[in-house]
Amino acid sequence: CGIVGVLGKGPVAELLVDALKRLEYRGYDSTGIATVGARDIERRRAEGKLRNLEALLSSEPLAGNAGIGHTRWATHGKPSEANAHPHMTDDVAVVHNGIIENFRELKAELQAEGAAFTSDTDTEVIAHLITRELRDGKDPIAAVHKVLSQLQGAFALAMIFKGYDDLMIAARQGSPLAIGYGNGEMFVGSDAIALAPFTDNIAYLEDGDWAVVTREGVTIHGRDGAVVERGVVKSAATGLIVDKGNFRHFMAKEIHEQPEVVGHTLAHYLDLASNQVALPDLPFDFASISRMSLSACGTAYYACLVAKYWFERWAKLPVDVDIASEFRYREIAMDPGGAALFVSQSGETADTLASLRYCREQDQHVLSVVNVRESSIARESDGVLPTLGGPEIGVASTKAFTCQLTVLACLAIAAGKARGTIGPELEAELVEALVEVPRHMAEVLRDESPYEELAHSLSKARDVLYLGRGTSYPIALEGALKLKEISYIHAEGYAAGELKHGPIALIDESVPVIVIAPRDELFDKTVSNMQEVAAREGKIVLVSDADPASAGCAVQTTLAVPTVHPFVSPLVYAVPVQLIAYYTAVFMGTDVDQPRNLAKSVTVE
Ligand code: G6P
Repeated sequence: CGIVGVLGKGPVAELLVDALKRLEYRGYDSTGIATVGARDIERRRAEGKLRNLEALLSSEPLAGNAGIGHTRWATHGKPSEANAHPHMTDDVAVVHNGIIENFRELKAELQAEGAAFTSDTDTEVIAHLITRELRDGKDPIAAVHKVLSQLQGAFALAMIFKGYDDLMIAARQGSPLAIGYGNGEMFVGSDAIALAPFTDNIAYLEDGDWAVVTREGVTIHGRDGAVVERGVVKSAATGLIVDKGNFRHFMAKEIHEQPEVVGHTLAHYLDLASNQVALPDLPFDFASISRMSLSACGTAYYACLVAKYWFERWAKLPVDVDIASEFRYREIAMDPGGAALFVSQSGETADTLASLRYCREQDQHVLSVVNVRESSIARESDGVLPTLGGPEIGVASTKAFTCQLTVLACLAIAAGKARGTIGPELEAELVEALVEVPRHMAEVLRDESPYEELAHSLSKARDVLYLGRGTSYPIALEGALKLKEISYIHAEGYAAGELKHGPIALIDESVPVIVIAPRDELFDKTVSNMQEVAAREGKIVLVSDADPASAGCAVQTTLAVPTVHPFVSPLVYAVPVQLIAYYTAVFMGTDVDQPRNLAKSVTVE
């Protein structure tokens, strides 16, 4: 979810909506704002996208110079107007990102005292708890301080109070929150991007902090109530322009940006004059570690899976890769001084951040690959390798993924150099292969008509399988994820050799099987698996630089990819799988940039 709050010089409703537009990537199943003027709190809420709230506000505008807003990704309670934030009583309105884990006990207690609940959310307990303290005679600051000590879980909160139009209280426990300093105005928001139209002077709250904000400034308290100082930094987010250009969807624009942003990222991590990698100082020395652990979520996790093949093959460095939500609870013992790497586009994913913190507690040296440089993951790492992808708006990750792969490829070469497994000649060969990637990506993007055509038949499928071996296996997983996310067709990725151990039972003439098979040393093995599919009448879509005749079986469609060095094939083959998903979703008429039930950045576990 995304939250925002404004103490303005004039009416704030429009400013709140403006900020919510920039926060929609955090969820978009319902939205709402509440404002307070000289007296009462008033709110407007709507189910669905922000435009529904805008329509409501044009017929029922909201006055008030102080207010809070929210865009929701449902956790407790289905997406509906009643469950949309802000949640309020007559005395206080609250917006919340995160989960209050003990809300059931608190709710039962409040209900026993007569509080009337109007939603199924965990958030509403906060409004009632504060109201109880206010009615007990406490002022808003004392009331909030008391209530914060009763809440368990992860949250970011912003609150306004009846009768106080120069007061907003914000709190952070696990979920990110930024304070924006204006001139006679003050702001709070889930991130600097939300506040970018208003100010670039930002302070980030730390865990346990709560902030009492007035138009004059802010007093930040630590968990124990004592006043703390949090430095004000200049945010770079204001300069970021976010529009679709000539494309129909952000996703299409972002797919097409890949040759350029991968090029930028390469230029940042390579010395092109000498064909060498040029990485900044790292928090650990590859020569002196014996393993490295990687963790991430979603598409970023698949980037880590590709990286495992690279680090193990080229740098002979054993790598453990984990889904962050599993890693964080495995209670794994780690030797102090080890190396841990985290990959995240947003830098805010709750499970990835929690895994990072676990590694810090275990005395690991923490390196992260992030796209948002001011994010929590970046700020809490010992070293950061930024991806230079620029803002990614489409919920389904595309350019962030290939930029992550780019950074990880450069890092794998650096690891091989440090460990003596990559000499100067091999380094030059691998670097040259990377330098060719933007050109090869552009080649794939030159003719998209085969993808448009394939979309007709794929859209009729109930299930689609993706197969790959080696580094093409994670690309098969990513291809299946992309298709699921935006077309809602059930898809699974499998290691090609694993097909015969189960998934083959699914294959008949109605199941398209998309085979990611660059003509490399594993090609013949994958061909055998393809023949097993053909023998059971599965419809093969071959994504490859090989002549389909070399498959030795019936191939329904071939999507031709240029011949590339095997090291970089996952970077180039990522593009066809993105296009397959994109054109299928467009053909089916789904909401490509904001698919149902998903959010771009998931700050709850
Ligand atoms: C969400 C997004 C995915 C993304 C994942 C991890 O689920 O929908 O596209 O891969 O989070 O996000 P991160 O920002 O950590 O890369």
